Amino acid sequence: MKVLDLFSLSGKTAFVTGGAKGLGRSINEGLLEAGVSSIFFCGRGRHGSIEDEEKRLKEKFPDAKIKGFTCDISIEEQVKQIVKELKNIIKYLDILICNAGVTWAAPTNEQTLQTWSKVIDTNLTGSFLIIRDFSRELIKPNPNGGKIILISSLLALQGTAIIPQIGYTASKAALLGLTRQLAVEWAPQIRVNSIVPSFFEGIDSMSQMFTVEGSPVREALLETIPLQRFINPSDLKAAICYLASEASAGITGQYLVLDGGLSIK
Ligand SMILES: NC(=O)c1ccc[n+]([C@@H]2O[C@H](COP(=O)([O-])OP(=O)(O)OC[C@H]3O[C@@H](n4cnc5c(N)ncnc54)[C@H](OP(=O)(O)O)[C@@H]3O)[C@@H](O)[C@H]2O)c1
Repeated sequence: MKVLDLFSLSGKTAFVTGGAKGLGRSINEGLLEAGVSSIFFCGRGRHGSIEDEEKRLKEKFPDAKIKGFTCDISIEEQVKQIVKELKNIIKYLDILICNAGVTWAAPTNEQTLQTWSKVIDTNLTGSFLIIRDFSRELIKPNPNGGKIILISSLLALQGTAIIPQIGYTASKAALLGLTRQLAVEWAPQIRVNSIVPSFFEGIDSMSQMFTVEGSPVREALLETIPLQRFINPSDLKAAICYLASEASAGITGQYLVLDGGLSIK
């Protein structure tokens, strides 16, 4: 196969959690640009309307099948419900992106069981529920196998004194363990990999307050990054398409660090 064909996602089906806002919107677009023909996404509808993102994508990609679902991935019944609804639309799924995530920043001694659970329930338990039910019902029946990509964070690999967020750090590190376990358990049919991003700009996302022009910490942060730039939507789209396509056919159980070199300094 020619090298550019290896990156094609032509005719594939994909599901993106947390797809109506932030990184999720860029992931939707990247998958569609690479040829995905049916894209589904979910969110609770609290930040960014599901309908608005569905409409935006349909206007930009009129030939694709696009549908957003309202679903809290930390609630088992809601996950089961979207699996049921999806099975009425598609026979099987090719690509699952676990992107939905939340955080709660405070010094660890000031965190409560509630703030801890809020983060763990979505980032870790929600990813587990989605992966377990989607793989069983929609990915394992796929004769061509499937790809699962988890969006972790650089905080999975290092602590931070500036913005302590213990539940986030712990849950994002746990996603790397989940990646390795599932990659072994479900090989060779399903490949499972993670992306470990740092600060983004150009996306209305969690890190925007630090990276936006005029932010008091922007310049100081840039000085710590060897490439002297933040990660942008194109970097993310390219990483997703690499791990979702045959270009990465020999890779499973790994994480791809998107950080401009921040972690190696
Ligand atoms: N931005 C960054 O710099 C950065 C860096 C490293 C890693 N990440 C990771 O990348 C992912 C996306 O980050 P982001 O910056 O795009 O965050 P964001 O702008 O806050 O978007 C998060 C998305 O997840 C959805 N979501 C949250 N809880 C959910 C739940 N229980 N069930 C279903 N959907 C839920 C949100 O929608 P609703 O609120 O409407 O449900 C929203 O669409 C996260 O996992 C984050 O940890 C981000």
